Amino acid sequence: MAAYISPVMNVIMAAARKAARPLVRDFGELENLQISQKTPGDFVTHADKRTERILIEELSKARPGYGFLGEEGGVIEGKDRTHRFIIDPIDGTSNFMHGIPQFAISIALEREGQLVAGMIYNPVTDEMFHGEKGSGAFLNTRRLRVAARKELAPCIFATGLPFLTRPGQARALAEAGAIMAVSGGIRRFGSASLDLAWTAAGRVDGFWEHGINLWDTAAGIVLVREAGGIVSDFEGRTDGLKGDAVVCANEHLHPQLLKLLKAAGRDAA
Ligand code: IPD
Repeated sequence: MAAYISPVMNVIMAAARKAARPLVRDFGELENLQISQKTPGDFVTHADKRTERILIEELSKARPGYGFLGEEGGVIEGKDRTHRFIIDPIDGTSNFMHGIPQFAISIALEREGQLVAGMIYNPVTDEMFHGEKGSGAFLNTRRLRVAARKELAPCIFATGLPFLTRPGQARALAEAGAIMAVSGGIRRFGSASLDLAWTAAGRVDGFWEHGINLWDTAAGIVLVREAGGIVSDFEGRTDGLKGDAVVCANEHLHPQLLKLLKAAGRDAA
């Protein structure tokens, strides 16, 4: 099956590629920036903001009137109340700052409150994950399926862990402990959107994280679903997700994962 790319997905992809060009240049110059003693914080703020600005400019040119929810700019109401783009200009900002090539531009399209399209682009590896509701998920031109494993023992799972003063550290450690004891191991890659994209691609068997935001997860939710996986919150709800807490895996693993995570979370509370 050839990759399905709708007109609006073409627009999303073109915007991401345009915004990625200066981002890749910045990534190649991180060392120089450190040598010149500019603070990484300022630099990253600038890169994040510039990326989001380019994305909004490009998307607005092609789809005037659509609204936006962006990590940097928050909500921008559009004249068209039925469509909005949900944008994370750099998901994995800490990785970017440290020269770790695991970060992505993430863009989702919401239509009448439903997530209908998702695109996640790692500009360093040039991997573009994309999917549209009812039409499948793809990595560049290759169709994606979630991994097919049914037992936890051979599986590798991705997760995200809170840092600095973010809440939920005891729960996160309890959950990680519960899953590492019964599986082939866990990974903490540092970009929730790519964790979801990698679940869709079957590179990891599943992913969970609390305390994130819709802009981190919206595009990835579409991808995992279109690759045949289940995405829910920690209560197991699959509809009306707020995107701030997700558990995903294939249909065999998802209930097992959810049960263990819920039990570990209860014990840590
Ligand atoms: C972060 C990444 C990370 C996750 C954090 C997010 P950002 O997004 O997705 O993997 O653990 O919770 O905040 O801030 O780099 O866009």
